[in-house]
Amino acid sequence: MNVSDSEVVVSILEKEGYSLTENQSEADLIFVNTCSIRDHAEKRVRNRMQEFKHLKTKKPNLKIGVLGCMAERLKTTLLEEEKFVDMVVGPDAYRDLPNLIKETEDGRQMANVVLSLEETYADITPVRLDKNGVSGFISIMRGCDNYCSYCVVPYTRGHERSRDPESILAEAQDMLDKGYKEVTLLGQNVNSFNWKDGGLKVGFSDLMKMVAALSPDLRVRFATSHPKDISDELIETIAATRNICNSIHLPVQSGSTSCLKRMKRVYSREWYLNRISKIKELIPDCGLSTDIICGFSGETDEEHQHTLSLMKEVSYDYAFMFKYSERPDTFAANKMPDDVPEDLKGARLQEVIAVQQASSLHNNKQDIGKVFEVLVENVSKRSTEQMSGRTQQNKVMVFNRMETKIGDYIMVKCTDCTAATLLGEIV
Ligand code: 5AD
Ligand code: SF4
Repeated sequence: MNVSDSEVVVSILEKEGYSLTENQSEADLIFVNTCSIRDHAEKRVRNRMQEFKHLKTKKPNLKIGVLGCMAERLKTTLLEEEKFVDMVVGPDAYRDLPNLIKETEDGRQMANVVLSLEETYADITPVRLDKNGVSGFISIMRGCDNYCSYCVVPYTRGHERSRDPESILAEAQDMLDKGYKEVTLLGQNVNSFNWKDGGLKVGFSDLMKMVAALSPDLRVRFATSHPKDISDELIETIAATRNICNSIHLPVQSGSTSCLKRMKRVYSREWYLNRISKIKELIPDCGLSTDIICGFSGETDEEHQHTLSLMKEVSYDYAFMFKYSERPDTFAANKMPDDVPEDLKGARLQEVIAVQQASSLHNNKQDIGKVFEVLVENVSKRSTEQMSGRTQQNKVMVFNRMETKIGDYIMVKCTDCTAATLLGEIV
């Protein structure tokens, strides 16, 4: 989401005559686009900012701006704490950047952290920051109204709003025209995409079908779904549409109904497993991934065991796994003690990682001997004689390059694997 937002920021600034540099010491203006999701993310930003502070001592005219969720969360406090920062700009205020930059010319510090009910940057064509020109993001909605008790996002990114489908289709078409082969439709909770204009209503399944219909050569992915509203209709749409990738990221957070209740996730373990069964029934080869939080407030050993057993039952291909990090001013921070000791959180996380490693390896082994459609994305990091790409299931496949080019679709037979990668031969 932040990469996608940075692409909007670059577009706004290029219109003002600025250009992007890869070289930090050459910059007249440095923006750091920040994440507040866990304390660790914020600490990394603070460290990075010290680098910018140092650069500024050598180049006093250098302007430094903090964008995104940390700007929104800390507001002008950040300007007081970090005197070298010139601008603090929240995720809905990027159109104001040219104006804010001008206002800082005389040395003033500026902030715009106003959240919007409408802003979707629909009319701004992002300047793509990906390196391969094959796979890119399209932001289809902003904000979140779910208020999971541990999560800072509804406070930093504001209310949920959907973007005009026409502008989404135009952006996807533009990417196709530029040679892109894959788009990922992005939102905090894409299932609740909901556009109404007079009599016209477009839901997420409709939108996916419309984007997929632009070209059979365009792969369509999406992130992220909330399990509470992943509908049969959506699963049927993925199953029935060849170029919507058979891959679903469905964050479970915990395998325990009581813990999910405290997290305010509004589904139970049984509901979640029912959704997984439906996916496996309609899309037997679907790639599945998830997010897990270890050591949330009040998490008992029994609840943790429920998470491990759910992970084993689903057998995810991939998971993002985290220790719970209390975020100031969230419901959990206000009402629920962060009472699982740090070392116990760490031990539980290690157990979760071990289960996931075993599932990844087990699932990958099942792929040996099967043939997959792979979109070629990169020259392999290990050897220039090898290329890598991804299967529809979102697994990385490495193979000998032969005559293939980045952007090609090829059929590859899986011959071997590790827990992280499939190895194969072009057929
Ligand atoms: N602590 C740890 N992980 C969190 N996430 C969100 N908030 C927190 C938090 N306070 C995780 C969730 C979410 C992912 C993007 O980040 O798993 O799905
Ligand atoms: Fe945060 Fe929950 Fe919204 Fe995801 S759905 S962004 S975890 S509040």
